[in-house]
Amino acid sequence: MTRFLPPLAPVSGLALDESELRQWGVRFGEAAEAPLVVTLSGELGAGKTTLAQAICAGYEVTDPVTSPTYALVHEYSSPRSTVFHIDLYRLENEAQLTNIGWDEIVNGDALVLVEWPERAGARLPPHVPIALEYDPGDPARRILLAG
Ligand SMILES: Nc1ncnc2c1ncn2[C@@H]1O[C@H](COP(=O)(O)OP(=O)(O)OP(=O)(O)O)[C@@H](O)[C@H]1O
Ligand SMILES: [Mg+2]
Repeated sequence: MTRFLPPLAPVSGLALDESELRQWGVRFGEAAEAPLVVTLSGELGAGKTTLAQAICAGYEVTDPVTSPTYALVHEYSSPRSTVFHIDLYRLENEAQLTNIGWDEIVNGDALVLVEWPERAGARLPPHVPIALEYDPGDPARRILLAG
């Protein structure tokens, strides 16, 4: 039987309120299998850290997950693997990327969540991209685009 599938592009987003976004993240985290690099893109306040917290919860991280804006990288443990949550917003230069152990982190066996991934430039490895955008029609919602 021939099935007509919708075109893959343009991808339509999900308009999610915060609770729905967290639920989506928990399910993603439950399904995630390391090694895996996930990029979280979007403007300031778009919900990248909120989504990272939910993914970590689904991935069985029990420690509180806080924004790594100043440290650049926070490390957590889960029964499933190590988790690195990285925020490159304050990255100053490429040498700093090396100094935080970027190459070892992204080539290791961990689940790696990266905010502001565009700042890693060409050093970004293959990854699952997730983008969050403000919903122009509803301040309580974000548009989530994945894959
Ligand atoms: N639908 C939504 N999804 C996610 N967060 C939402 C939503 N609606 C409102 N918010 C609020 O938006 C804020 C998102 O903050 P968060 O720190 O997750 O953003 P961020 O993208 O990580 O920002 P930054 O670029 O500064 O790291 C939170 O205060 C959250 O309560
Ligand atoms: Mg953040």
